[in-house]
Parts: sequence; C-alpha cells; structure tokens
Amino acid sequence: MNDSGKPPIWASGAILAVLAAICTALVAITHSTTAPRIAANAQAYLEQSLKPVLEGLEYDGKLSESTLTIEPPHELPGGAPVTVYRVYAGGAPVAALFVVTAKDGFTGPIKLLVGIAASGEISGVRVLEHRETPGLGDLIESSKSDWVEQFRKRSLADPDRELWAIKRDGGVYDQLTGASITPRSVIKAVKETLLYFEANREQVFAEVGE
Ligand SMILES: Cc1cc2nc3c(=O)[nH]c(=O)nc-3n(C[C@H](O)[C@H](O)[C@H](O)COP(=O)(O)O)c2cc1C
Repeated sequence: MNDSGKPPIWASGAILAVLAAICTALVAITHSTTAPRIAANAQAYLEQSLKPVLEGLEYDGKLSESTLTIEPPHELPGGAPVTVYRVYAGGAPVAALFVVTAKDGFTGPIKLLVGIAASGEISGVRVLEHRETPGLGDLIESSKSDWVEQFRKRSLADPDRELWAIKRDGGVYDQLTGASITPRSVIKAVKETLLYFEANREQVFAEVGE
C-alpha cells in the first residue's frame, strides 16, 4: 500500500498480467479441444454438399479425399483458382466435381458445383452461392425449382455444342420467365467446364492433388 491507501501500480500491473495469462490459456485450451470437432463437422458438411451432383454413381471413400487445385491461367469459368474433387472406384475415375464461378450473373458472380462423370456426362450441377433476385434469377437454386436438373446426363454431344443455350436463343434449355441473364450465365459456365474437362481429362484425374 502507498500513502493514498491504494496498491502500488506494479501490483495492479501484475494482477492484470496474471488475468491476461489465464484468459489466453483458457482460449488456447478451448481452441485445442474444439478444433478437431469443428474440422470434422466442416468435413461432414462438405461431403454432404458434394453428394447431390453424384446421384446414381458408385464410388469409393470420401468425396473430398482427392482434391486438386487448378491455378490460373486456365480456361475454366471465373479465372480464380478452381478446386476439383476427384472421385474414384477401385482406382478408376468416376467423376470430377468442379467448383467454378459464372461471372456474368445479373447481380454478381454465381458459384457452381459442376459434376462431370468420367464418360463426359454431367452427373449433376448445384448452385453454391449467388445474389440473383428472389423469385427471378434465384430459381437456379435446387431448393427453389428444378431448373438446374436439366443438366443431368447432358454432355457436349447431347445437345450439340451450339444448342447449349436457352430456347429463346435457339438452344434446348428452359429459360426463366423475365430473367434470361441468369440462366445464360449458368449454361455458359457449365459448357465451359465441360470443354475444359474434354481437353484436360487425363490431367484432371492423373495430377497429384492435396
Ligand atoms: C429489380 C430487378 C431484378 C432483376 N433480377 C434479375 C435476375 O435475377 N436475373 C435475371 O436474369 N434478370 C433479372 N432482371 C431482369 C433483367 O433486367 C432483364 O430484363 C432480363 O434478364 C431479360 O430477360 P427477359 O428478356 O426474359 O426479360 C431483374 C430486373 C429487375 C428490374
């Protein structure tokens, strides 16, 4: 105690330092005990998100086991690094799942998961992120309409390449009423992913991933 009856300043400093050390230790302990659980949950969520684009296909192991990152420059939609989940059965390629970005949506980029079976047929497409307008462009979401189901089993041979467009543009795909920009953007991105796969199939399945 000093003359004023208060503890000396060094004592207050020491108490604060001890409290800070205790808090830091608590945060570190909490982090180390919950981190594995958070990672496991994130992994399970990722597996669940990938499954819908693999309907009807048999495969081994976990979907996210063999991941590849394709760095720019590349011909895939979006230009940014693209994650590819490679799926195998008995060592043979089953499908490649591409996370690509259609840049020309009405309201912004549209992040897509494009599943392509080893045969070159689309195994499924899902919209992962978008900002399209509710009731208009957001019908590309599988929870809002079955528009995205049109791609299943399609390939560059079915329909012919020039028919990869909405019906109004002379293609085979349904448009969305009053919102043709969004579907044009998605169709273009899916087609570009197929073109990339056609040109790089061997490398996609062979390259060493993460
Ligand atoms: C508020 C507002 C939101 C819109 N949202 C979308 C959208 O999400 N996707 C889209 O393709 N068009 C959207 N549009 C419509 C476009 O302006 C454009 O009219 C349309 O895409 C062209 O397609 P259409 O020829 O079928 O009308 C929106 C328009 C307005 C005024």
